Amino acid sequence: MFTLLIAVPSAIKVFNWIGTIWRGNINYTPATLFAVGFVSLFISGGLTGIFLGNSALDIPLHDTYFVVAHFHIVMAMAGGYGMLAGLYHWFPKMFNGRQLNNTMGYIHFWLTFVGSYLIFWPMHYLGMTGVPRRYLTLENFTTFNGYEDLNKFISIVVILVFCVQLLFVINFFHSIFHGRKITVRNPFDYNSLEWTTPIEPGHGNWPGEIPTVYRWPYDYEKDGYAFIPQHIPDSALVEKDTTVRS
Ligand code: HEM
Ligand code: HEM
Repeated sequence: MFTLLIAVPSAIKVFNWIGTIWRGNINYTPATLFAVGFVSLFISGGLTGIFLGNSALDIPLHDTYFVVAHFHIVMAMAGGYGMLAGLYHWFPKMFNGRQLNNTMGYIHFWLTFVGSYLIFWPMHYLGMTGVPRRYLTLENFTTFNGYEDLNKFISIVVILVFCVQLLFVINFFHSIFHGRKITVRNPFDYNSLEWTTPIEPGHGNWPGEIPTVYRWPYDYEKDGYAFIPQHIPDSALVEKDTTVRS
């Protein structure tokens, strides 16, 4: 019963994330895709948590691959996607304005996304038929004869998804030195303060005055403006154009 209470804040956060992008003018960059992918995985893994939180269902499912599937989707995959979204998003801030290659980013996202579900979705079925966790081999269980094919399929997809991550590693290190540079401080029209620092920030981040913050960083598509950066005072917003880009 108390375990199930965790579904309440989880659901609030999910509605919060979906509500934030609902009917928004979304630019599907690799960073956005990984962020949306995170929400998808968090929902998928959270739903199976509700199964496990019911004692009647958890008695047969406990210590089976259903649990392994649940926590990898909600923790291992979703968590990883959050980190990847951050890397794609802040890469130009980390490496003096250089960007990751977008095409490689899209390939990385789609193959990883499809792969994540192909790896962990079948594990639910293994778990529902009773395959236990933490066993080196199922050879001695005649009941599970014939499940090797599914396990082999999962292993092959894991190897493929691992190779796709190598593609990301290559993109990462190549882009640090050779990535296309952003030409203005805030080329993607973000509101938050880090995009007001110089393309190659020095010690202290801002060379002169530290900017004044006038609002929170979430004012997108508001009052006729596509975006309103935090450091732009209300008085500068009279003309509805893109001069807020700075
Ligand atoms: C709706 C929300 C969730 C519910 C109701 C839920 C419920 C459960 C339950 C009941 C189990 C035990 C299953 C068993 O061993 O029989 C379990 C296992 C687990 N859950 Fe969740 N969960 C939720 C979300 C999460 C989240 C957000 C994470 C981590 C980010 C997570 C990580 C884990 C891990 C690591 C295990 C396995 C621990 C182990 O035995 O090695 N769960 N979950
Ligand atoms: C695609 C990547 C991954 C694959 C294919 C994978 C696969 C597996 C498998 C098959 C098991 C079950 C082993 C068993 O019960 O005999 C396992 C256990 C586990 N994995 Fe992963 N894993 C991956 C990534 C991760 C990541 C990134 C995390 C952490 C965030 C993680 C955390 C765990 C934990 C906590 C266990 C339970 C260990 C235990 O039973 O004591 N895994 N993993």
